[in-house]
Amino acid sequence: MEFEGLLARLWEDYRNINPQAGRIHALLSSRGETVVNDHVAFRTFEHPAVGMAALAPPFLAAGYSQAGTYDFPDKHLRAVHLEHPDPALPKIFISELRVGELPAGLQSSVAALLNQVSPAFLAHPWLCAAGRPWNLSRWEYEALGRFSEYAAWLAAFGFRANHFTVLANSLRTFSSLPELNGFLKSAGFALNGDGGEIKGSPAAFLEQSSTLAAPVRAEFSDESLEIPGCYYEFALRHRLPSGSLFQGFVAGNAARIFTSTDRRRE
Ligand code: NI
Repeated sequence: MEFEGLLARLWEDYRNINPQAGRIHALLSSRGETVVNDHVAFRTFEHPAVGMAALAPPFLAAGYSQAGTYDFPDKHLRAVHLEHPDPALPKIFISELRVGELPAGLQSSVAALLNQVSPAFLAHPWLCAAGRPWNLSRWEYEALGRFSEYAAWLAAFGFRANHFTVLANSLRTFSSLPELNGFLKSAGFALNGDGGEIKGSPAAFLEQSSTLAAPVRAEFSDESLEIPGCYYEFALRHRLPSGSLFQGFVAGNAARIFTSTDRRRE
């Protein structure tokens, strides 16, 4: 199936940038676990050519439909999540940066990136996996990051999965997210502690944690630099009063998870 090819390509690319995901996947498998992927997340700029609506077609063509919308005013982001009737397929979370809310100089920087994108690149049927079509300087990267870590990450990495997510409910050898987190930390992985390691609560029907993005060498027009790459996320879903498992996302959790790719200051 062509769509499975897309998911496989996204995972390969993501695992190359984020080897800790492959190592954690292998560690869990070696305990006899079968890792189920809860969702794959993408980042983009709000723009007719590359916005959320431009990334969604391969998912819609595969049978996904929009199931939730989210707003992050402080981060100048909005997001949608898509679901497939087959619960074995991961949810898709696509966010976009409201470019019009950036300071004028940074809007110009984003426009300069988008001006480098060729029509052939935009015609890619898998735009969400097409990579980074622009060049930028370290100075531009850092200027974007001072206002929006999200914008800096997106400028540096382009179109690819930002993270995959282990559905903790599917793990048989861990009874809670803190137990899974403890296992990961004892194996040497650093977790994102922003607002506490666990984002959310059973009352919100969703608990999440994530690794901190490990450094990756990124190429800029003037130099290469080690910067935060991708992270691996862990989600424990709880039952709604109706008895069905909550399938949405919680904006307050996600706002904290976004910081997993922040540049960390000494
Ligand atoms: Ni996520």
